Amino acid sequence: MIEIFANAQELARGAAEYFVARSSEAVAQKGFFTVALSGGSTPKALYELLAESFATEIPWSMTHFFWSDERHVPPDHPDSNYRMAYEAMLSRVPVPESNIHRVHSENPNADDAAREYEQTLMPLDLVLLGLGPDGHTASIFPGSEVLHETKRLVAAPWVEKFNAHRITMTLPLLNNSASVLFLVSGAEKAEMVKQVLEGPRQYPAQFVQPTNGNLLWMLDKAAASYLAAD
Ligand code: 6PG
Repeated sequence: MIEIFANAQELARGAAEYFVARSSEAVAQKGFFTVALSGGSTPKALYELLAESFATEIPWSMTHFFWSDERHVPPDHPDSNYRMAYEAMLSRVPVPESNIHRVHSENPNADDAAREYEQTLMPLDLVLLGLGPDGHTASIFPGSEVLHETKRLVAAPWVEKFNAHRITMTLPLLNNSASVLFLVSGAEKAEMVKQVLEGPRQYPAQFVQPTNGNLLWMLDKAAASYLAAD
């Protein structure tokens, strides 16, 4: 399913309402909610909005936070996905520290950090993902061996273009979640959005197809600008 919003602000609001709905549903069903946060720049507005305008609607003490991927840097590094989410949201809301399950990406051995993270996982009610201009999602990049991973739930692929490892949830884990939400904003993504949503399956983002869960793409008008009109 695809939802298109007028602009980035409306996109963040639509995503916040979806987040609240998933959290209420999960807490009603099982008493807690598990969500994997995405990194990059697009979700920052969502995280800020959740902290500023939806804080009373989210059961923070019953919500567990994970990351769909992380850069191989310490948690206080400017590139840290954990740091971005912590500053934008988690440090501003009453979530217990024990509910924040970050990747120990300060571990010099990225694969050890990935294996350790696998041990902390809980079944995921909601996974947030973004889309790179090259069709990558989480840290599953085109041509990466991690695309073919069938056993590991978290892996540490080497990413040539960053000359660094990344720690990422794999397709078996992403496709075992209850719901996946792609958030994509900006004209620079329009070409890839068209390829991924209307073209043959070839890009990593297209392999995210939850087996028993739902898949939702939320786009702003600029990112959706090349899509065929209904
Ligand atoms: C990361 C992300 C990555 C991101 C896309 C889109 O760690 O960088 O998880 O998959 O979602 O690269 O990034 P932007 O939102 O910055 O365009």
